Amino acid sequence: MSILVTGGTGYIGSHTCVEFIEKGQEIIVLDNLCNSKVEVLDHIKTITGIKPKFYEIDLLDREGVKRVFEENDIDCVIHFAGLKAVGESVAKPMEYYRNNIVGTLNLVDEMRAHNCFKLVFSSSATVYGKPASVPIREDFPLSTTNPYGTTKLYIEQILKDLCVADKRFSVVLLRYFNPIGAHDSGLIGDNPNGIPNNLMPYVTRVAKGILPHLNVFGNDYETEDGTGVRDYIHVLDLAAGHYAALKALSEPGVSIYNLGTGNGCSVLDIIHTFECVNGIKIPYCIAERRPGDIAECYADATKAEVELGWKATRGLDEMCASAWNFEKNA
Ligand code: NAD
Ligand code: UD1
Repeated sequence: MSILVTGGTGYIGSHTCVEFIEKGQEIIVLDNLCNSKVEVLDHIKTITGIKPKFYEIDLLDREGVKRVFEENDIDCVIHFAGLKAVGESVAKPMEYYRNNIVGTLNLVDEMRAHNCFKLVFSSSATVYGKPASVPIREDFPLSTTNPYGTTKLYIEQILKDLCVADKRFSVVLLRYFNPIGAHDSGLIGDNPNGIPNNLMPYVTRVAKGILPHLNVFGNDYETEDGTGVRDYIHVLDLAAGHYAALKALSEPGVSIYNLGTGNGCSVLDIIHTFECVNGIKIPYCIAERRPGDIAECYADATKAEVELGWKATRGLDEMCASAWNFEKNA
C-alpha cells in the first residue's frame, strides 16, 4: 500500500517524503510544479536512496487525478498541494478558491471512487484569525482575514461535513504554526520565488546579500520587545508530526491537531539567534506594521503530545543554522 503526497515536491511536502521514506513507507508524489522544482525528487533520492514515483499533475485535472488512483494502490493521502501566499490571495481570490478548494474536492471524489478513505490535510494557524488569547488551543473560535485563510477554513469545514456524511472517512487536520529551517543535508528547504513574504527566507536572503536589509514590521506591539511573536517550528519536527498523525487515521471522523512548539519567539529573537549561530550580521530597519498581522500567535501543543505522542524537539539555534545552510547552497 502506498501513501500519495500531493504537493510533495514543495517545502513541507519534500521533508515529509524524506521522513516517510526513512520510516519505510512507499510514497507517490503528485505535484503540478507551480511552486517547486522537479529536481527536488533527485535530492530526496540523494538523502534517502529512493526516488519516489512522480506524477506531474494538477489537482484541477480530474482525469489526471483519477489516473493516479487507477494506477496505484493508495491507502492514504497527505494533502499539501495548494497556493499559500497571503498577499497574492487578496489580489487573486478566484485563483485561490479554485485551486485550493476545487483541487481538494477533485482529490476527495477520486479517493472515494477508489476506496481510499484516509486523509491528512495541511491546515494553518491562520484559521484562528486574531486569537483572543495565547497559547491557542484547537477548540478556539475560527475566523480568517484573507482568501488564503478562508480556503483553509472552508476546506476544514468541507472535510468535517464529509466525515459526518460518510463514516468510512478518517481525516486529520493539522494546523501548522510557522515552519522554518531545512534538512541537515542542505539539499531541500524553503525556496520561494521572488521576494519572500515570510520572515526566515527574507532573513537568509539578507544574510546572502541578495536583499539589502530586513524590514521589521512594527516594534510597538504589546510583546516583550515590541515585535511580533510567533511559534517557529523546525520543518523536520513538522514532517515527523505527519508520521505521528497516521495514528489518528485508525479511527473514523475528524481529528484536529496544532503542530507547533508551544513557544513564542519575537522577530528580534530570530534576528539575534540567526546572527549568533551563523556569525552573520542581519541589517534591519523598523518599518510600519504589516496590515493583517497580529501581535502574538503560538500554539498550545499539548493535544498532539498526549494523543499522538509527538512533540517538537529542535530549538531555534538548529532552525536558524539549517535555514542558512540551505540558503548558502541554493
Ligand atoms: P509549497 O508551495 O512549497 O508546496 C505546495 C506544493 O503544492 C508546491 O510544490 C506546488 O507546486 C503544489 N501545488 C499547488 N497547487 C497545486 C495543484 N493545483 N495541483 C498540484 N500541485 C499543486 O508550500 P509549503 O510551504 O510546502 O506548504 C504546504 C501546505 O502547507 C500548503 O497547503 C500550505 O498552505 C500549508 N501551510 C504552509 C505553511 C508555511 O508556512 N509554509 C503554514 C501553514 C500551512
Ligand atoms: C504568515 C501569514 C499566515 C501564514 C503564515 C505561514 C500573513 C499576514 N500571514 O504568517 O497566513 O499561515 O505566514 O505561511 O502574511 N516579519 C517581519 N519582516 C518580514 C517578514 C515578516 O518583520 O519581512 C514579521 C511579521 O510581522 C511577523 C513575523 O515576522 O511578526 C512572522 O511573519 P511571517 O513569516 O510572514 O509569518 P506570519 O505572519 O505568522
